[in-house]
Amino acid sequence: MLTILVLGSAAGGGFPQWNCNCAGCRRARSGDPAARPRTQSSLAVSGGDERWLLLNASPDIGQQILANPALHPQTAVRHSPIAAAVLTNADIDHVAGLLTLRESQPLAVYATDRVHRVLEANAVFRVVNPELAPRRAMALDRPWVPADAAGTPFPFEIEAFAVPGKVALYLEDPSAAGFGSVAEDTVALRIRDRNGDGEFFYIPGCSAMPDWLADQLRGAPLVLFDGTTWTDDEMIRAGTGSKTGQRMGHMAMSGPDGSIAAFAGLGVQRKVFVHINNTNPALLDDSPERAAATAEGWEIAHDGMEFTL
Ligand code: MLT
Ligand code: MN
Ligand code: ZN
Repeated sequence: MLTILVLGSAAGGGFPQWNCNCAGCRRARSGDPAARPRTQSSLAVSGGDERWLLLNASPDIGQQILANPALHPQTAVRHSPIAAAVLTNADIDHVAGLLTLRESQPLAVYATDRVHRVLEANAVFRVVNPELAPRRAMALDRPWVPADAAGTPFPFEIEAFAVPGKVALYLEDPSAAGFGSVAEDTVALRIRDRNGDGEFFYIPGCSAMPDWLADQLRGAPLVLFDGTTWTDDEMIRAGTGSKTGQRMGHMAMSGPDGSIAAFAGLGVQRKVFVHINNTNPALLDDSPERAAATAEGWEIAHDGMEFTL
């Protein structure tokens, strides 16, 4: 059995974002029940034992642990059920939480070589002592079984594969094609119970849906997918930024090239948007965009959402 906890359902910055005065952020700050606050992008998965594997480590991990009793220390004066983490890219919203997980606690950290090089190049991550928190290479395109720092395997396997996307903002090379992005910069995860009880996909960043990816997802029981923006230019129109969703490595939900259209007809049983930007009107329970996404069979993740497969 797999249990999946949505620790944080918002994109980088969270909802509301600390410095954002857009309509949605204002509603979230005012306590409007239709504009529920959300923390930054992260899930946790367990295979039925007491251990949890983090899927991305968000800057809000402290608050996320507090909100989820399953992640509280349990058995010793220093203990954490969080036994490993898998990073899908090197974005701040997905790696900065590692800094909170220091304090001499065993933690296995899985990422592509490319993301590990980013952690190595930034000396501050050495506070997560590699002797206690071994950094392990994540294979692409074949299933592997994650293990905790002591080497005890989790009861599920992971297959990671590159998806269209973009290198982390702070690593962009303005003179290079695609800002210097390489395939390993953004990966999708397919996680499968080794007892055959279920599987799901986690794809918090994806800029396009090529046919081969659509074929992979066809008929899946559960896909948690990049829901950054509703329209590609919404951040520009909201006055919150100068970039399109595409420029940031994300496909919009709506429109002919959007994710809702791309998933239509794929027969995915449960489609859930995660990594939702604070400008995305689908975050608001009473918006026409939320109604449109729901009518197409999508769920909009909220913090604390839980799935059992
Ligand atoms: C993204 O998903 O595009 C990034 O997390 C943006 C950011 O670094 O804030
Ligand atoms: Mn992000
Ligand atoms: Zn905002």
